[in-house]
Amino acid sequence: MRIYREKDYTALSRRAANLISAEIIRKPDSVLGLATGGTPVGTYSQLIEWNQKGDFSFAEVKTVNLDEYQGLLPEHPQSYRCFMQEKFFDHIDIKKENTFVPNGEAEDMEAECARYDELVRSLGYADLQLLGLGRNGHIGFNEPSDFFHKETHLVDLTESTIEANARFFGEGESVPRRAITMGVGCIMAARRIVMVVSGANKAEAVRDALLGAITPRCPASILQLHNDVVLVGDEEALAYV
Ligand code: PGA
Repeated sequence: MRIYREKDYTALSRRAANLISAEIIRKPDSVLGLATGGTPVGTYSQLIEWNQKGDFSFAEVKTVNLDEYQGLLPEHPQSYRCFMQEKFFDHIDIKKENTFVPNGEAEDMEAECARYDELVRSLGYADLQLLGLGRNGHIGFNEPSDFFHKETHLVDLTESTIEANARFFGEGESVPRRAITMGVGCIMAARRIVMVVSGANKAEAVRDALLGAITPRCPASILQLHNDVVLVGDEEALAYV
């Protein structure tokens, strides 16, 4: 595992954007695995800036997102489809039909999970998967559990995740309790994984993921078995590693 220890959030966002743009320049039709949450936003902003300057193009890039809330329409402002449009896709030269997010509104969730796994497989898996890290060690919405879920699946979010997500929802708005998430199978099949972490409240999860036992109680610990993981963090998040 390679670790980039950056001085602050701006620097780590720039570093992660650099790694992603290098991948696109190397392979213009890359498949990117993308993440939502607060941490990748700076990375997306930096990529938008470079793309708008004409440094590289997303015209041939395809993207697969990690997860989506169950029961939110894609137009719902808190849906991850909406998040991706607002924070990234609407500002770059990507074709919307080349961007994929699980369908949280599907009637048959089992079929949707199987369809999403097949989609990611048919794209040849991600060349580069961008990941955040939950305070409880989750990746995507693979929450701490008794076993690793290989396939895309529907998950009951833990209270700590619901609480962390609540900051994106208005007062009185109910925070979804279930989500559909890529399993660790698709994540681990990515050729390269870039994880972004920021802030002191991630330091323990980073330590457990990198230095602790490989256990589904800390889903990110499975990344110890991947041979090309790049961790990009600020001083605070990397305090224990
Ligand atoms: P955050 O979320 O970037 O908003 O902290 C990360 C995650 O839960 O995966």
